Amino acid sequence: MNFVPSGICFYVSVALCWLTAEVDASWWYMGTLGSQVMCDNIPGLVNKQRQLCRQHPKVMQAIGSGIKDWISECQHQFRNHRWNCNTTARDHNLFGRLLLRSSREVAFIYALSSAGVVYALARACSQGDLDSCSCDPAKKGSSRDAKGSFSWGGCSDHVDHAMRFSQAFVDAKERKERDARALMNLHNNRAGRKAVKRFMTLECKCHGVSGSCSVRTCWSAMADFRRTGDHLRKKYNGAVQVAVNQYGTGFTTAHAHFKQPGKNDLVYLEDSPDYCVRDQDSGSLGTGGRLCNRTSPGTDGCEVMCCGRGYDTSRVGRTTKCECKFHWCCAVLCRDCHQQVDVHTCKGLT
Ligand SMILES: *[C@@H]1O[C@H](CO)[C@@H](O)[C@H](O)[C@H]1NC(C)=O
Ligand SMILES: *[C@@H]1O[C@H](CO)[C@@H](O)[C@H](O)[C@H]1NC(C)=O
Repeated sequence: MNFVPSGICFYVSVALCWLTAEVDASWWYMGTLGSQVMCDNIPGLVNKQRQLCRQHPKVMQAIGSGIKDWISECQHQFRNHRWNCNTTARDHNLFGRLLLRSSREVAFIYALSSAGVVYALARACSQGDLDSCSCDPAKKGSSRDAKGSFSWGGCSDHVDHAMRFSQAFVDAKERKERDARALMNLHNNRAGRKAVKRFMTLECKCHGVSGSCSVRTCWSAMADFRRTGDHLRKKYNGAVQVAVNQYGTGFTTAHAHFKQPGKNDLVYLEDSPDYCVRDQDSGSLGTGGRLCNRTSPGTDGCEVMCCGRGYDTSRVGRTTKCECKFHWCCAVLCRDCHQQVDVHTCKGLT
């Protein structure tokens, strides 16, 4: 994880200010300055966002503490890719000038960050961290599913509330403008929010005579955020390049034979840079110094990752667990084995 020093504000699709700071620092920040001052000092917020920020400082806090989760999910999804969601390229935001281009990667960042806001907020509601929301009040009484009837119990994640708030807050910025980029952002933000809801599952506890499960108590819970990440990564692969229609109200596909994007698809306007070399203007860090796999034919292979520049090989010592034996009962004991392995890193531009 790359962390940004506290007290500095950035803007992605949500403002990242105290958001990127360590939790303690953020409390200090809020405590000393108060929400009014804090919200007034985040650059890049539109009036509506400032207003919501002042009214709901704790919600902002919850969104902020969720940022590291969606950033690490982004880095997980793109770990084998030339662009790896590195957040050190920043100048005025977490991703630097990358966000200025309406690329496929930016479509993914907007969708994933919006999903992350919904996730963080719904979780904070369920944990009782916020005064403005709690468990889903509609999940009361009894209901039915394929296995029969059950009664609602426990705490159902109030994902609808989280989606509403995150839409009001995150989309406020885009609603100020009515250009192609704003339409793109709104579309991808919504696709991201919907992705969280898609993976809600019913979790149940069985009761009844000796666990017969004749009586069930169930609650509706969000799945692990990885599910959302995997889903959006697939949507990134199938993202549709679009142009805005002549009325400025929706999209037409940029290539005649491409399918029309659905509500769950990601859309983008511009081709991506190749991310091979460091380039301030496009926010590309380049792949010099990145680890690559000499035998992989995929995007993590040295040929693709290093863009044909070649790679350096070095031997490093590694310690792994080996000769593991099961001991009665119940432990697995292993030895530490030391191994020399070759690691390959891409050459930079010479
Ligand atoms: C991000 O880029 C910086 C500078 O190029 C590098 O030091 C850091 O290790 C990178 N982080 C990740 C997660 O790739
Ligand atoms: C490198 O790629 C090959 C082929 O895809 C794979 O079998 C191997 O596990 C990879 N090695 C590492 C260190 O990831």
